[in-house]
Amino acid sequence: MNRRDSAHNEGPSAFAQAAELQLRSVSKRYPGQHEFAIEELSLTVPAGDVCVLVGPSGSGKTTTMRLINRMIPLTSGDILLGGRSVLAREPRQLRRDIGYVIQQVGLFPHQTVGQNIATVPRLLGWQKGRIAARVEELLELVGLDASAMRDRYPAQLSGGQRQRVGVARALAADPPLMLMDEPFGAIDPINRARLQDEFVRLQEKVRKTVVFVTHDIDEAIKMGDRIAILREGGVLAQYDAPAAILSHPADEFVSRFVGADRALKRLALARVADLDLVAPNGLVGQRNAQRVSATTSARDALSLLLVSGGEPLLVVDGEGRAEGLLTIDVLEQLLSSEAAEARSR
Ligand SMILES: Nc1ncnc2c1ncn2[C@@H]1O[C@H](COP(=O)(O)OP(=O)(O)OP(=O)(O)O)[C@@H](O)[C@H]1O
Ligand SMILES: [Mg+2]
Repeated sequence: MNRRDSAHNEGPSAFAQAAELQLRSVSKRYPGQHEFAIEELSLTVPAGDVCVLVGPSGSGKTTTMRLINRMIPLTSGDILLGGRSVLAREPRQLRRDIGYVIQQVGLFPHQTVGQNIATVPRLLGWQKGRIAARVEELLELVGLDASAMRDRYPAQLSGGQRQRVGVARALAADPPLMLMDEPFGAIDPINRARLQDEFVRLQEKVRKTVVFVTHDIDEAIKMGDRIAILREGGVLAQYDAPAAILSHPADEFVSRFVGADRALKRLALARVADLDLVAPNGLVGQRNAQRVSATTSARDALSLLLVSGGEPLLVVDGEGRAEGLLTIDVLEQLLSSEAAEARSR
């Protein structure tokens, strides 16, 4: 009995694998085209990190994904997965190591949800019992009721449910790398936010290396450990942590791309615990103040402050102990120091 066979008796199996992904001076020119779709793209995604790829339409995001799993050939450069060139691998075998989720999901319409999820394990020759246990585990993991969903066909699911099945199928063989090309692009805003939250929670459990494409910069900020911004012609404009991109956009293109409401987005990344709070004993009336957890984002705190008519919020830690008071002034200071920093560049 191997590790995973024994693991399903002990509850959720370990998702142990993740591999570093490295793109080295990757260029792609499609046959018959003069322009490069991707030009000299170099970036490294550490094992277990989420790299979000953003950029205008036609900037080469999908091309990058298809180069990684060798659906199309490189023009020049190299791509390493776990330190090993993808060019040295047999493409079909390589693709079993890479979960691929696309916007249209691409579930097989004439197969049930269970059969869809079982695709790769079946190819790998897993035994029936092991496959069934895996399907059940994955459905639960993506927040679907296994007994209700397993035997349905894709047409009998909502768009969001289909998307989750797509993610479950991509995770089935525990691949060290996941490629997700606008996976939530066709989902309505409410379900989209829910799927984003679930993705973040899922990623905490499975810790895959993920390349995630989106058009939505807010989605990128929420999901990414790092964001790679491509400009037209497939040239990398900036590759950095979300906070760094918002506070120090590399150039005019990036700052236009991340938008004029950069300050608000930046607030979304700051936790109230990290701000210069007013000492809790310094103000009277704090007993009646509305309490917020130290992990609340500064942006959510701003919304609360606006609703409460500017009454200070009492920031408390996990045990309910007061850490300090958050006032409009504190947020104003944060924003004006950011603005000053932006002007000085
Ligand atoms: N098979 C192909 N043959 C020729 N050119 C192609 C082919 N596929 C894509 N391209 C071109 O390569 C460039 C990059 O396309 P790609 O699909 O990677 O963009 P993208 O960033 O994914 O765009 P979108 O945001 O619209 O999905 C575009 O100019 C596109 O027209
Ligand atoms: Mg695309």
